[in-house]
Order: sequence, then structure tokens, then C-alpha cells
Amino acid sequence: MGNKNISIIGGGVIGLGIGWQLAKAGASVTIYERDRAGRAASWAAAGMLAPFAEAHTEEQELLNLGCESLSLYPQWVEELATDAGMSIGYRVEGTLIVGLEADDTDQLRHLYEAQQHLGLEVHWLSGREAREIEPALSPRVTMAIHCATDYQVDNRLMVAALQRAYQACGGVLHENCPIQKIVIENGVAIGVQTQNGFHETDVVVLSAGCWSAQIDGLPDAIMPPVRPVKGQMLALQMEEGIDIKAVIRTVRARYPTSVYLVPRSDGRLIVGATSEEMGFDTRLTVGGMFELLRGAWEAVPGVYELPVLETWAGLRPGSRDNAPILGKTPIENLIYATGHYRNGILLTPITAYEITTLILSGETSETIAPFQLDRFLR
Ligand code: GLY
Repeated sequence: MGNKNISIIGGGVIGLGIGWQLAKAGASVTIYERDRAGRAASWAAAGMLAPFAEAHTEEQELLNLGCESLSLYPQWVEELATDAGMSIGYRVEGTLIVGLEADDTDQLRHLYEAQQHLGLEVHWLSGREAREIEPALSPRVTMAIHCATDYQVDNRLMVAALQRAYQACGGVLHENCPIQKIVIENGVAIGVQTQNGFHETDVVVLSAGCWSAQIDGLPDAIMPPVRPVKGQMLALQMEEGIDIKAVIRTVRARYPTSVYLVPRSDGRLIVGATSEEMGFDTRLTVGGMFELLRGAWEAVPGVYELPVLETWAGLRPGSRDNAPILGKTPIENLIYATGHYRNGILLTPITAYEITTLILSGETSETIAPFQLDRFLR
């Protein structure tokens, strides 16, 4: 089964992850990337592995998928280290979700109760207890949830590692090579068309993030309902006096933007993110930067002194119900792995393992069955 010929459209972490696993199993895999591999949403992300902080508590199936993928991370990190010869900054210091004023309490309590209900390792802390864990937190922080099991990876290291592992296993990567068309004949995907011609293939995987609905050749009826959701972000350099270890998230009932602060081992502090419906516009705005800086400064006043290293905006591939679109489509041999929205890094391991199994065995597992395209077609 491993000798299949597979074309993957999109070289972000999802495409690279699937490609790596398939190539490792002996398949002939080619990834077509419109730009440089992993330089879109995979690069822009913060790398938080936080199923609860990044989904609504009502999104039960998505939460389960996120928790399952999180549980695969130790195995994923080890396997990547072996195949790529590098680590990806996997850190397990946990997350502090902090509230600053009375209006935030209801939101935090609701989240805490949902987390407890699911048996997660969470602790309700006073402001003082939260500052014992992270002394840089503001005296204005009055309450916090400590999620011991919400972790992080350095997503840019993960891009590099996946690319290395994929190529080391024999995968072929064409960068700056947009797909002109998915070629479908009699209800079967038979290949892809690029500037270099037609490439015949046994299976086509669509993992093109927020560009997934822009690929020619797909019938309108099965176009994946994916759109770009812009997130502006910035990176600060932690200096003396600010040495944050845990991921910090704010809950701000009265402001449009809750922020997160994600410390990297190299001293960078990632601050994100806005959430804007602006199409493919990736310009930074004064309002976006202002909301991020205000949120970061309110939670950790010491950021006021820190140098700004980088600013950027990325495009999350948001689906209509915030959950990814995984698995078979009404077109034979056309597989979707897209729409991962706010959880692309978290969901990469489960997507890579499950889509690989699907392609090699032909069977859709119970894990991904609820996330197939058909939920939008009924
Ligand atoms: N997962 C972080 C974000 O979407 O902003």
C-alpha cells in the first residue's frame, strides 16, 4: 500500500506533517507550495497547545480532537527529533489564564467549571498565588486558572523540523509552485496542473489553509468553506526582570481583544493576537498593535520597557464551524485536511497520523469521521 503516488497541495505544517508520515511509510509524495514552505499560518502562529483556551466549551468534538492531539505530542516530538535531528521547543510549563477585574470573573468561572467537568488538571488561583508562579504579573491580576497541561512548541522550529524530516524520508517539495488546477475526471481526482504541466497522481490532498477554496477544478458544491481570519502579532525581547516561563492569557470581558503572551526559550516573548475578518489583507494597523500592547501591558506592566523585535499578521484558515475539514470528499481520491483555524499547530499530529492511515488503508477512523466535509453538505 505504501507505494502510492500522492500530491499534497500546501506546504504548511499540515501538508508537511502528512507528507512526512506518508513518505516514511514508503509512498511517493510531492508537496506543491505556492510560496515558501511553512511561511504562512504555520509561521505566524504562537505555538500554543491549548485545546480549551482556543475553543468554545460547547465545541465538544473539537475539544476532544484537540485533547487527543495534545496527548500525541510527546510521541510526535520524539519522532521528529529522530527523523529531523532537531528539537522543536516543546515546553510543559502550563498556562495561566488571568482576569483583571470583576467583569472577567464570570467568563473565567465558566471556563474553569467546564475544564473541571472534563477532569482536567486545573487550579483556581488568587492573584497572589498567580504571581507566585509568574512574579511579572500585574498587581491588578485578581484571579487566574492554572492549566497544568496546556503546553507550547516553537512553531517555526516545527516548520524547519517537518521540512527536514519530510525530505529526509524522500518527500519532494516544490516551492513557489502554485497549483493551477486539480484535475478531476468522471468523479475521480487524477492529478494536478502546475506551471510545469500535468502531474498524474493516485491521491490529491488539499491542505492549502485559507487558500483551499481558491483552487480551480473543484466543483462549487464541494468547495471547502474556509476563509482567512487575520491575526496581528508581535514579538518582544525579554530582558532583566522579565523572565516569563508559563504561557499567559488574559480574559478581558470589556475589551475586543484578549491577549496571550508566549515565552520562547531564546528570550522572545510572542504577543497575540487580533481576530479580524479582513479577507487576505495582512497589513498591520494602529488599532491592532494598540490592543495587543495594551493587553500585554495590563497583564505584565514590565513589558513597557522591552524592545519590540518583530511585528506580523497571519491568516488563520477558519471553517464555518471552527473545526477542521478532514478526510474523504465526494470526489474519489481527493482528501481534505484544511480549516484548522486557531488550532493548526495543536492538531498537526492527529491530522498527520489520521490522514496517513486513511490514505494507506482507505478507512475513515471514528476519530476523524465527525470532521468530514459531508457535515456541510447535508
Ligand atoms: N491559536 C492562536 C491564535 O489563533 O491566535
